[in-house]
Amino acid sequence: MKRVLVVNFSQTGQLSDITAQLIGPLRDAGNEVHLETLQPENPFPFPWPIIDFVDAMPECVQLDAPPLKALGIPPATDFDLVILSYQVWFLSPGLPMTAFLKSQEGQRLLNGKPVVTLVACRNMWLSAQETMQRLIVEAGGQLRDHIAFTDRGHPLATFITTPRWVLTGKRDRFLGMPPAGVAPEEIDAASRFGRALADALSKGEETTGRAMLTGLRAVTVNPRLAISERAGRRAFGVWSKLIRAFGKRGQWQRRPALLVFSIYLITMVLTVVPTSLLLQWLFSPLLKPRLDRLRAQLEQPSGSQEFNLQKYDQ
Ligand SMILES: Cc1cc2nc3c(=O)[nH]c(=O)nc-3n(C[C@H](O)[C@H](O)[C@H](O)COP(=O)(O)O)c2cc1C
Repeated sequence: MKRVLVVNFSQTGQLSDITAQLIGPLRDAGNEVHLETLQPENPFPFPWPIIDFVDAMPECVQLDAPPLKALGIPPATDFDLVILSYQVWFLSPGLPMTAFLKSQEGQRLLNGKPVVTLVACRNMWLSAQETMQRLIVEAGGQLRDHIAFTDRGHPLATFITTPRWVLTGKRDRFLGMPPAGVAPEEIDAASRFGRALADALSKGEETTGRAMLTGLRAVTVNPRLAISERAGRRAFGVWSKLIRAFGKRGQWQRRPALLVFSIYLITMVLTVVPTSLLLQWLFSPLLKPRLDRLRAQLEQPSGSQEFNLQKYDQ
């Protein structure tokens, strides 16, 4: 029997549903699982009023998270494995997870522990995961596996359906575009990771330093999106510092700068993103070797291979 800490935050319940699929087989195998749902002291709204939505960007990017309510973990509890379930907000980890990783309690819980990260988002998680890796290392944890669930709609369609979902709460089919979010059958199939982890824990593999979830198609990276993400990340870095120079999150002094940022964001999504995807598609024969290398590197540590799918699928 092993002790597993699962740290989770979800607004719509999508990420909690995926996390529950992992936890089920871990508990069935006799492991003790503590599920900690992060609770910000001041809850984030859902659906998000547009102004609150853009106003969250600077603090997400600068990793300046508002405090959480006290955790419900009995003091001095020691865990064998930590699973961090997080969302991506503006190419960065969502603020509740950032707050956890930067807190003293979070750092104590991660220190010296093997860590598995689980993300469910639109489709741009690479920069956020880079930040997660850094924060996990800073806390003394060891990232062992990463699992990513994304919206399989076309990247351009999800630029409309995801904001519609978080700003209005509506996620159904819209103007011929598929419903927003991770497909229900993919959520159900997430239990394979729970079964594989239960198996790994029963063999003590969490202590070996190796990935435990290879061969299960844990991540699939589109390297073209990686290039757009890098550009977006750089731009968000500049905008976040500029907007923070006007005031704190929630203060009216920031509003004019937020308005300009919103116009910039919409213009980028409508012009630069499609142009960049088109150029990359046109030059794909030339870019292919570079993109293949980038994909292999970004899919570490758990990878997109499928050799263990049959063993752990129901
Ligand atoms: C403020 C905010 C910013 C977001 N930014 C991104 C992003 O940069 N990339 C991405 O893939 N998804 C982004 N999303 C989508 C979330 O990662 C997530 O899929 C969505 O909020 C639903 O999460 P939940 O079902 O766990 O509540 C964002 C959502 C919010 C609320």
